[in-house]
Parts: sequence; C-alpha cells; structure tokens
Amino acid sequence: MKLNVLLSPLNADELYFTQKTTVVIDVLRASTTVISALSNGAKEVIPVGTVEFAVKVSGGMFGGQTLIGGERNTKRIEGFALGNSPLEYTRETVENKTIVFYTTNGSKAIARAKFSNELFVCSFNNLLGMAQRLIKLNKDVEILCAGHNNLFSLEDTVCAGMLVGRIKRLNRSVKISDSSMAAQVLYEKFGDDIPKMLDNTEHGKRLIQNGFKKDIEYCSRYNITKNIPYFDGNALKLLDQKPVEKK
Ligand code: MLT
Repeated sequence: MKLNVLLSPLNADELYFTQKTTVVIDVLRASTTVISALSNGAKEVIPVGTVEFAVKVSGGMFGGQTLIGGERNTKRIEGFALGNSPLEYTRETVENKTIVFYTTNGSKAIARAKFSNELFVCSFNNLLGMAQRLIKLNKDVEILCAGHNNLFSLEDTVCAGMLVGRIKRLNRSVKISDSSMAAQVLYEKFGDDIPKMLDNTEHGKRLIQNGFKKDIEYCSRYNITKNIPYFDGNALKLLDQKPVEKK
C-alpha cells in the first residue's frame, strides 16, 4: 500500500485516476458539506463541474425531491436552493433529497476523479473512519487536495498530512511518496490548533470576511462521524449503505 498526495488537481487529468483509489479533500468547505448532507439523510449528492450542468441535471429530476446546492465566491448562486455551508444541510432540509452540487473547487475535483475505481470524500470530520477504511482496503491511494483555482491550499494539505499520519500509525509498513511526507510535515507544524490554522489560511480569511466563521469551526472538528461518502459512478452516497464493489 502506497499513499500519494496530489497537492492540487492541476497535474492530474481525468484519465490519471482510471482504476485508482482516490480520496478527495476540500476541507473548506465542499467535502465537509457533502459529509454533512449525507449524514443528515440526503439520498445522494451529484457533484458537477459547471453551474450550467447543475441546472441541466436538476431539470431532468423530480422537482420536490431535488435541490441544487453550491457556491460561487463562497456565496449561494442565484436560483440555487442551498449554498455551500455544511450547517445549512440539516436533516429537515435534505432528508431523502438528491442534491445536485456545484462548488468552485471541491465538486470539480470530485468530478475530475470520477474514473477512479473507488472514490471517497474526506475532511477532518470523518478522517479517522476514512483512515481505517483505507487500511482495510489495502490498496495504493491518491489523496487529491482540491486546492484553490488549481493552486495549493494549506488546509487541504494539512488534512491530507493528518490522513497519511493516521494511516501510518495504523499500519507502519505503508509506503509514502515525497508529497505525502511533505503533507505530514505541514500537519506536524499546524495540526495542534486546526481552528487557528483554518482561520489563517487565504480561504479561511475569505470565509470569515463573508460571514462564515461558524462554518470554519464546524469544518475543524475531528472525527465527529464515521460516515464516508463514496462515488458510485453517478452520485456520492454513504459507504455503508451500499458496500463498494471491487471492479
Ligand atoms: C470550493 O469548492 O471551492 C469551496 O468549497 C468553496 C467554499 O468554501 O464555498
């Protein structure tokens, strides 16, 4: 088992992920929001790469059972029912609903990795469960940091470094790439105070400026759920509701 961290999606096109096991991380906030939506009973989350596609996909679905969610510049898009705050995706709002989901970086990163053999979504919220699951799967893993506009983002890399560290703690024989080692070093540097690290990142500052400070606190919580979203070829669902079939 070898772990590789992709520090941004820039150098990996869709075909790169073919037959791979991939974990997508967008701590602020898309991966945290997907986990929140599914944990609160959403039937599925369909990640899309463009706003136009989100509207098109949702147009072909049953009105009351489908919600479009997501953001542009951190704010809800006009005509969308929901933004990209994990706190908006309450049970009352999302239970049994299909969510069509577009975000600037996170949903695009998930869509980019869609040819993976197994594709999971991780944040601090479900990190320990994710580490345990990957150990069980015992395959090489690509950890894809969604980053920001195809560039590096500290929060995704620190989360990736924490995931690498937890996996290594559970299985010392796991091999890691140079980028995984670098991510681990960043986790060691910033991991003692995750909320502070998030507040000080470029995207954290943007979120605070736009009134989303509470989201940052929520996104910083470690191991609050064992729920793991996985991509079934069409949509993200909760792993243990339908086991992954190995292709
Ligand atoms: C993204 O996908 O770029 C983020 O989730 C943006 C956000 O915080 O809304």
